[in-house]
Amino acid sequence: MSVLLINGPNLNTLGTREPEIYGSTTLADVEASVRAQGEAAGIEVACFQSNFEGAIVERLHAARTDGTQFVIINPGAFTHTSVAIRDAFGAADVPFCEVHISNVHAREPFRHHSYLSDKAVGVMAGFGTLGYNLAMTFVIDRLSAG
Ligand code: DQA
Repeated sequence: MSVLLINGPNLNTLGTREPEIYGSTTLADVEASVRAQGEAAGIEVACFQSNFEGAIVERLHAARTDGTQFVIINPGAFTHTSVAIRDAFGAADVPFCEVHISNVHAREPFRHHSYLSDKAVGVMAGFGTLGYNLAMTFVIDRLSAG
């Protein structure tokens, strides 16, 4: 069983980026933690981060045929702008959860809209980096149920 964890633009700077909003946990910490959670459940977690929209689109195309059964994605700012990533999920035909570290609904109005949420199985926002683990708990449950 295989899960793909995708992080979008600027999330490579987690830990130092606006820590009052995003906390002090690094992306490496997040990836290690989600990987360990998967390992304990017999699920392999592949991690991918990019600051480039097209790279995320192409990674999703690959997910259609590489055995990915579920995607957990924090699309960063592309959440609010990217029809291309929305369409890539349609092309990949793989279920996904959307994660936001901050509560985007309590922030600027332009962060309230997501091009992905209505296509997601579920959305996690405002639980800090723990949100990735909460999403992974759901995914493990879903995949284990078959
Ligand atoms: C974010 C929220 C987005 O609005 C922002 O552009 C990000 C991070 C979050 O995790 O809270 O880069 O997705």
